[in-house]
Amino acid sequence: MNNNIIATTSARARILTDEEIAEIDHEIDLYPDKQAVGLEALKIVQKHQGWVSDESMLAISKYLGIPISDLEGVATFFNLVYRQPVGRNVILFCNSVSCWIMGCKSMRAHINDKLGVDFGETTDDKEFTFLPVPCLGDCDKAPVMMVGDDLHRNLSKESINKIISEYKTRS
Ligand code: FES
Repeated sequence: MNNNIIATTSARARILTDEEIAEIDHEIDLYPDKQAVGLEALKIVQKHQGWVSDESMLAISKYLGIPISDLEGVATFFNLVYRQPVGRNVILFCNSVSCWIMGCKSMRAHINDKLGVDFGETTDDKEFTFLPVPCLGDCDKAPVMMVGDDLHRNLSKESINKIISEYKTRS
């Protein structure tokens, strides 16, 4: 399967890029049926586009031949599939029990003050999106957050300042 597919049911139809198609085809080879590739396809498109628009969702649905309702279900269940544009850096902030006990509330307030955004919001300069997530699996190093693919442990106001400065200067 190597032809680009156009999502025709939307006035803003998009075409999957050759790169996206190559990566999705690679996943198709690894799984017994296309239904199982839905999540991987969403992640591939998100990696390339930054998020998964309705037009991308339609394109994936048509390419894999699976209902869009199934894909929407997958995207809803895995809350790390972004259905709205996000900033260049996504902060995934753990607000589960251990992090709560270890003071994540004041760390959240510090990020609110520093970036001017709360959960679900993106900074005006589009540098950071701030999202809550359930336990990141590193409870003994709480409070914990991720920025992009990087895990940051034992957060303090000072370390948060440093982390934010580092990601801001990355281009
Ligand atoms: S509760 Fe935050 S990492 Fe587990």
